Amino acid sequence: MYNGIENITICEHPLLKHKLSILRNKNTGTNEFRIIVEEIAMLIGYEALRDLEVEYAPVETPLETAMCPFIAGKKPAVVPILRAGLGMVEGILKLMPAAKIGHIGLYRDEETFEPKEYYCKLPTNIDQRKIYVVDPMLATGGSAVAAVDFIKKYGGKDICFLCVIAAPEGLEKLHEAHPDIKIFVGNLDRELNESKYILPGLGDAGDRIFGTK
Ligand code: PRP
Ligand code: URA
Repeated sequence: MYNGIENITICEHPLLKHKLSILRNKNTGTNEFRIIVEEIAMLIGYEALRDLEVEYAPVETPLETAMCPFIAGKKPAVVPILRAGLGMVEGILKLMPAAKIGHIGLYRDEETFEPKEYYCKLPTNIDQRKIYVVDPMLATGGSAVAAVDFIKKYGGKDICFLCVIAAPEGLEKLHEAHPDIKIFVGNLDRELNESKYILPGLGDAGDRIFGTK
């Protein structure tokens, strides 16, 4: 819960905060950065997947037959926002290996900071699936709002957004545009700078995950 808003969760686990401190360090190299983004995605995913529904089926234990819970319903979809969102996918798949994967390609125009779409491919029957949109950075919120707009346009209804770091502006913008979606944040940082980078942040997530620039 954030500012009394039920649909926003700021994750408070000390392990997550510890890992995030390593990510922030400018001397953390690509390999370690990638591994830690994946681990953080797992920790945030553990919170975000709490509301998966279960159904009961009989299991023969060595001692008796017990009715045991299994995840119910259509396989959920994980939808990374390209590129940096790709870094979180494996972490979520470790929790939910059977999930389907969609992709949304967006980049921020370097002058206007507006998101530009270049790709969108979502799993079939998206209207019947729980959808977990992943992107490490929620800065102005433009990319996240556009991604959720697309998913809704294609029929998606049950949507959750997971990010490693959010700026207050982006978090508020996403919630105002889409108050129905649940948002899970690894850490709420202080502010954006004039280039719309998050402070203190971790720099450019895509470049640090893929070793570009
Ligand atoms: C980054 C990040 C988000 C976006 C956040 O992607 O991964 O998608 O910026 O900024 P916003 O909230 O202001 O829209 P970027 O556009 O740098 O593309 P990349 O993942 O390809 O590096
Ligand atoms: N995108 C990033 O990768 N980092 C930021 O700080 C803001 C947007």
